[in-house]
Amino acid sequence: MFGPPGSGKGTQSVTLAQKYNLLHLSTGDMLRAEIAAGSDLGKRMSAIMAAGELVPDDVVIDMIAHKIDATREKAGFIFDGFPRTVEQAEALQSMLAGREMKIDRMLVLEVNDEELTDRMKKRALISGRADDADPAVINNRIEVYRAKTEPVIEYGRKAGVCHEVDGVGSVEDIFQRLCSQIERII
Ligand code: AP5
Ligand code: MG
Repeated sequence: MFGPPGSGKGTQSVTLAQKYNLLHLSTGDMLRAEIAAGSDLGKRMSAIMAAGELVPDDVVIDMIAHKIDATREKAGFIFDGFPRTVEQAEALQSMLAGREMKIDRMLVLEVNDEELTDRMKKRALISGRADDADPAVINNRIEVYRAKTEPVIEYGRKAGVCHEVDGVGSVEDIFQRLCSQIERII
């Protein structure tokens, strides 16, 4: 599940994972859990996340590899917020190839910047997320996405797995759009 901050990756991944028996892996959720637990890793990553910058590639690649190896009895994975750089995409591809797995679909939620900012400002009232609290950090997250993460779309296009989905509308309508893409491959 791919898309800019606030595009609905988390919202949609949770229900897609239930419907298709997939393990939902959100690197953002994993990192926030490390911060909440007060771990060394969490302490090292918290300022980077609060500024809306990306944490180092090796940190998230290691997290994902451990989860993949520990998972049983699932039909597959839904990655949310990962890969976020071309380096992460290459690492994921070789990690999967070494385990006889592959990326079946890259679903890109398309949402304009105004709607993204609106959604995150609204969520700031309830989420407690440090990176939602400051409009300057929200803008930075969108800029970091355009500069470092959007190039991964081209990577997915070359691999022939990329599909853009309109991410504006009701949560249910967007869910149906995503399901119709997934059902083409199962
Ligand atoms: P991460 O947790 O991945 O955050 P993000 O990409 O900034 O995206 P969000 O979680 O804010 O948005 P979302 O797309 O999940 O949308 P959601 O469903 O919540 O990353 C956070 C930080 O961790 C990064 O900045 C970085 O520091 C670090 N990090 C994480 N992964 C990393 C990686 N791989 N490499 C390096 N660093 C990494 O929806 C947003 C809001 O909109 C919600 O309130 C929701 O209720 C609402 N909403 C959803 N759908 C709709 C709709 N259709 N209409 C109206 N509102 C809607
Ligand atoms: Mg999310």
